[in-house]
Amino acid sequence: MTDPSVPSPPADALAHSAALQARIAERIRRAGGVIDFSEYMRAALYEPGLGYYSAGSAKFGAAGDFITAPELSPLFGACIADQLVPLLRDWPDAQVLELGPGSGALAIAVLRRLAARRALPARYLLLETSADLRARQQQALTAALPGLAGRLHWLDAPPHAPWRGVVLANEVLDAQPVSRFMVTASGWQLLGTGLSDHGFIDRPMPAPPAWADHLARLAAALPVPLPVGHHAEFDPALNALLKTLAAPLEAGWLMFIDYGHPRAAYYHPSRHRGTLMCHYRHRAHEDPYLWPGLQDITAWVDFTALAEAGHAAGLELLGYTTQAGFLLGAGLETLAAEGAGDAVADYRQAQQLKRLLLPSEMGERFKVMVLGRQAPPPAAFERIERIEPL
Ligand SMILES: C[S@@+](CC[C@H](N)C(=O)[O-])C[C@H]1O[C@@H](n2cnc3c(N)ncnc32)[C@H](O)[C@@H]1O
Repeated sequence: MTDPSVPSPPADALAHSAALQARIAERIRRAGGVIDFSEYMRAALYEPGLGYYSAGSAKFGAAGDFITAPELSPLFGACIADQLVPLLRDWPDAQVLELGPGSGALAIAVLRRLAARRALPARYLLLETSADLRARQQQALTAALPGLAGRLHWLDAPPHAPWRGVVLANEVLDAQPVSRFMVTASGWQLLGTGLSDHGFIDRPMPAPPAWADHLARLAAALPVPLPVGHHAEFDPALNALLKTLAAPLEAGWLMFIDYGHPRAAYYHPSRHRGTLMCHYRHRAHEDPYLWPGLQDITAWVDFTALAEAGHAAGLELLGYTTQAGFLLGAGLETLAAEGAGDAVADYRQAQQLKRLLLPSEMGERFKVMVLGRQAPPPAAFERIERIEPL
């Protein structure tokens, strides 16, 4: 049953969702009655023309479904930009590659700050798979930074040619399709997506051999066994993504910012319903099968898995801390004081800083992990207490 606090979509949006549901249902029938949940989630978010990120609805900001840190305040991007300055000054050929740039807010804030500090990269690359979002980003960036159009390049796929510089990914890993499992009396059971008379449902399915090995290793690595009935997720494509991004990077960083935990907290018995969360018009709920294509579906990031995937791809862990720790280490307070304005602007800025920093808001739920090679760690990590991703 639909959570009554979640507002109902209009009729045209429901028709859009019905078209996507029909397409996914057909795939399930062709597959013999069940598909992996990651296949369902990929279609719900990225099916060309129909998926949540591929179709034209407003997603970001007050009128959309959620607000991200770069949407909240340009100081977030300015802090990141300040960390990039030494690398960009040392390497005149350095590029920045942003994954999943959303509305373009992070790119705008980073480039404005780098321009002010005379440390612009040779090129700022934006990897965006959604044609709709790419068009929105092009419009937003051209309007905000008319003088920088020549440095902006949109990509359809990660670069293959060797390059050096920095990959930025804010809230991209939480939007990766995950697979789900449940702990049963006889072990861990993969949960796929099947069909019932009322729509999509969870359906047990056999795990491919590689995943069965992954789940067995994961189970063995946990300090506390998970109880029967526990639900959880994992990202089956994380290692492949890290390999693709790391392979051509001769020197530089991959900076990931997202909500998540190290493994022991991620797979803790108290988190028995897993971390999957859906957002529609600023309401959060747990039903991934509600209105596919209209709502965001996310899962928290297992930062231990990310560090391991980086290691397997030949990268070193250069730093890991909370978003609050990183922003304070990067000089957020000084930047905020520089931007002081009238009373209304100061009040608004104070509210934004609270959301970025408070533990109950984004400050501790969000983490920053930097993986890299042939490059020193970002200076922010020298000024704060690091935490361990294990
Ligand atoms: C939650 S939004 C975050 C947007 C933006 N980074 C921000 O912070 O406001 C997730 C974004 O990641 C993009 N995305 C998901 N998987 C991706 C991938 N493998 N490569 C590039 N972008 C991806 C989506 O299309 C979407 O733009």
